[in-house]
Amino acid sequence: MANVVIIGTQWGDEGKGKIVDLYAQEADVIVRFQGGNNAGHTLVVNGIQTILHLVPSGILHNHKICILGNGMVINPKVLIEEINELKQRDLFPTDTNLFISNNAHVIMPYHIRIDSAREARKGAGKIGTTGRGIGPAYEDKVNRTGIRIADLLDIAVFKEKLACNLEEKNFYLTRFFGEEPVNFDQIFEEYCGYGNEIRDYAANTSTLIARHIKAGKHILFEGAQGAHLDIDHGTYPFVTSSNTVAGSACSGGGIGPTKIASVVGICKSYTTRVGSGPFVTELTDEIGTHLQMQGHEFGATTGRKRRCGWLDMVLVRQACTLSGITGLALTKLDVLTGLEKIKVCTGYRIGNEEYTDHAPANLKLFSSCEPIYEELPGWTENISHARSIEDLPRATRRYIDRIEEMADVKVVLVSVGAGRNETLLLQNPFR
Ligand code: GDP
Ligand code: IMO
Ligand code: MG
Repeated sequence: MANVVIIGTQWGDEGKGKIVDLYAQEADVIVRFQGGNNAGHTLVVNGIQTILHLVPSGILHNHKICILGNGMVINPKVLIEEINELKQRDLFPTDTNLFISNNAHVIMPYHIRIDSAREARKGAGKIGTTGRGIGPAYEDKVNRTGIRIADLLDIAVFKEKLACNLEEKNFYLTRFFGEEPVNFDQIFEEYCGYGNEIRDYAANTSTLIARHIKAGKHILFEGAQGAHLDIDHGTYPFVTSSNTVAGSACSGGGIGPTKIASVVGICKSYTTRVGSGPFVTELTDEIGTHLQMQGHEFGATTGRKRRCGWLDMVLVRQACTLSGITGLALTKLDVLTGLEKIKVCTGYRIGNEEYTDHAPANLKLFSSCEPIYEELPGWTENISHARSIEDLPRATRRYIDRIEEMADVKVVLVSVGAGRNETLLLQNPFR
């Protein structure tokens, strides 16, 4: 059995897309299991960039099966546009098998309207969501009023569910937010069209995955967001609305935990965050600017500037525990080149208390935590051509070693550039 889960260990944008694309060479099936088009996963192959929001990051390879799992919330318009764009660019291999879970939930126009109306109302206290309707769609799922892919494909069921939802959503939009209502006929017609376009992709993806596992195929599960955006374990309420930890691959893919062999946690060599919420190691000085500029830290979904700071090992350690991470993939190490000293946060201090393996749940406490830093020497050499550990300067190796020691987890991959080949593969998670 060689089924691998990839997840983010921080606040998203760790470089999951790049690593999934790379590991997809060894996989037969690639499964997205949670989130929606709040995700932006960037792949760079032969110098050409592709940003995926819904389609799994295995799509650029031939002969793969790509699955959008039941744990996802799917905006069908965005999905169709993404597929069409890939086809136009000749990046959708004709032999690709794409499947969408019948049980995945559909993001509707009123989810997007509610998301933005709520954020506007919160003003300075806003979460800083991606405005894609993610939270409201998951709310309906948990509330048992959501519309699933299977519902969208059955006109009578869709009509009834949509009418029922609109009664409530339009009341909320008009009476609570003072906004315009959404129109039944318009949505019904538009979404019936989307249903017809995606009909052929709909399937029971859980049994499909099970069949491939039984046949000894390699399954790669692609997480979105990061451990600290998890609805249960993240910096609530500044989180997304799904479980982003590795366990979510089971519920969101429809497989059992006994089918997972290893979990690779993607860890950026420093920390970034988009949107609001506490960030203990945030840097607003010239080093923050260095990370932002050298790392091109702009959101792949919304284009927002990402906040940047030193690597926070408290967050990484917690992520390792939460997801049973068996190997770390360290990304964007090249971005640190040129910094004289590099700091790593080994713990938080608040009064007489120290936190080393988890962040305090009380957000007020978390916001007042002071970082405890260890300082390491930097390096000036260009490391983007390195392909093995021996190619790296001593100081770079020392940084990797310290991360490994602090996390108590092996570093199995080091990424030194955005390109697929700009990578040091130290251990293969499928073997
Ligand atoms: P994801 O959401 O975790 O897939 O990450 P994003 O794609 O949102 O953001 C990661 C960004 O860093 C993308 O622009 C990648 O092309 C880029 N990237 C990934 N790995 C590396 C790396 O090792 N070095 C550099 N310089 N860029 C990288
Ligand atoms: P990938 O998969 C970084 C953040 C938003 C916001 C919070 C809630 O590319 O790593 P939402 O729209 O989900 O309700 O927003 O979560 N967020 C992400 N930040 N990377 C992502 O995805 C994110 N998806 C959501 O910025 O703070
Ligand atoms: Mg991203």
